[in-house]
Amino acid sequence: MVNQDKQTVMITDTILRDAHQSLLATRMPTKYMLPVASKLDKVGYFSLEMWGGATFDSCIRFLREDPWDRVRQLRKAIPNTRLQMLLRGQNVVGYRHYADDLVEKFVELAANAGIDVFRIFDALNDVRNLRTAMRATKKAGKHAEGCISYTTSPVHTLDLYVEMAQQLEEMGADTLCIKDMAGLLTPYVALELVSALKRKISIPIHLHCHATTGLSEMSYLKGIEAGAAIIDTALSPLALGTSQPATESLVAALRNTPYDTGLDLDLLIEIADHFKQVRAQLSEYESGLPGVDARILSAQIPGGMLSNLASQLRSQNAMDRYDEVLDEVVKVRADLGYPPLVTPSSQVVGTQAVINVLQGERYKVLTEHTKNYILGKYGKAPGEIRKDLVERVVAETGQQPITKRPADYIEPELEKDRRELAEKLGMQPRSDEDVVTYALFPEVGLEFIQIRDGMKKPEPAKPAPAKAQKPSPAPQEPTPATYRITVNGKTYEVSIEDATGFSVQPRADEPPTKKAIPTDGRTVKAPLSGDVLRILKQEGDEVSQGEEIIVLEAMKMETKVVSPHEGRVAHLLVKPGDKVENGDPLVVIS
Ligand code: CO
Repeated sequence: MVNQDKQTVMITDTILRDAHQSLLATRMPTKYMLPVASKLDKVGYFSLEMWGGATFDSCIRFLREDPWDRVRQLRKAIPNTRLQMLLRGQNVVGYRHYADDLVEKFVELAANAGIDVFRIFDALNDVRNLRTAMRATKKAGKHAEGCISYTTSPVHTLDLYVEMAQQLEEMGADTLCIKDMAGLLTPYVALELVSALKRKISIPIHLHCHATTGLSEMSYLKGIEAGAAIIDTALSPLALGTSQPATESLVAALRNTPYDTGLDLDLLIEIADHFKQVRAQLSEYESGLPGVDARILSAQIPGGMLSNLASQLRSQNAMDRYDEVLDEVVKVRADLGYPPLVTPSSQVVGTQAVINVLQGERYKVLTEHTKNYILGKYGKAPGEIRKDLVERVVAETGQQPITKRPADYIEPELEKDRRELAEKLGMQPRSDEDVVTYALFPEVGLEFIQIRDGMKKPEPAKPAPAKAQKPSPAPQEPTPATYRITVNGKTYEVSIEDATGFSVQPRADEPPTKKAIPTDGRTVKAPLSGDVLRILKQEGDEVSQGEEIIVLEAMKMETKVVSPHEGRVAHLLVKPGDKVENGDPLVVIS
């Protein structure tokens, strides 16, 4: 045994955040957490991770619940255990870099609402992007956990990680997390890495591994033997696969050893029963990915990104290209200087890889996010970015890559956001929390606030857009559907008529939804399926080669559609808000 001293290991349970983010598309509502909150509080965890990552986005976008209220409700129900959140450094819980005043306000409000531990990471391991969030956490008197996004590449050496850990300790980190989002940490590297860190830093080391590759429990054991103090696990019903190792298994594995967690296995099993039912309730969000995906060991793709890629490809009707996209992710990542794949760099690399594959040509289209990444707007890439890509982006945008911290170029934004929100609501915002929600998610956040406050009705479920409908031989008259339902052993026949008011059959007198494509020029087609966000040129406008005409939003990313040659916009075939599919004609350039 490497460590002979008694060294109790502590556990952070991710059941309320990463577990359902990894396995159930982040769809667990607060009402499924509260019934076992007081039991969770009795376990004796180091902390309960319950916020951050994608939970904020999911709350306002899908669950229509106030993310800040979730913190308050759980704080009230769990008074004795630290509540922990994952913070994306200068990206907060969004996808771009925000001004310092917004980062500071977010941390202050989160601390007030009840967050105790802020785990702060940067997708590129650029420590400059952690500074403001760390400082704000310390100012609020809370626990700052500095975080290394673990990955493997020719540029990611042991020395690099140790140096980063020392910087984080100097910045005031109370603990150091090794965030292994893809499950790439192998047991003996864990032993080596934790041992090297223990020699150079004195703060406790916290391991966060995903079970995606089947290595995580082994890595935990070796890391613990080398001196790691805290590990992240998830209660068994939402453990393993792309989530964390099971809490109960690790508690059992460490029992009666110097590392004994001291947690009560029976209590854990009792709580787990509840989450078995929760998983069954939310089964429609199962990602359906395999338990162990060995391809990740070469592609280095985190679990969350795998399910994201799968859903991107499904939305593009291209699930059959999945393996090709995984290969492309490896190539794009190398070309971009080996960023660790975690939000938002995972979206940058993933979306570019999907576009490369669907276009049948590498980098024919560069997304706005890829361009910004290359221009240094996410921070410094760990390795060298392919020179010709840098040159091309400089030529296309007329901008030079930045060398300072990205947020140094961002003006304070909080008061501007407050004014904007007041204008859009027609009244002063109800709270600073609302201002921050709006700043982070201008469209979805505003809609959420309006719906929550009764200023707007949630949109009724719409029928699929007409062009997405398949011709159906179904009868034209609505026919009541008959169901056989069994209740307490007695069978009833129930007929249900379509009462939605929507006709899902295309009517014969409807005009054709697709206009004939004019042939007096070259047609530019949609590079991928998505929504038309903005039109930058009108019919009759002159355009030069490479000039931007239309902005699409697809897979949460903006993609600009550019003119293939110099000419004139002869016909615009779409308008903002239109849904387009991969290959649909957008504009004709004469
Ligand atoms: Co994770």
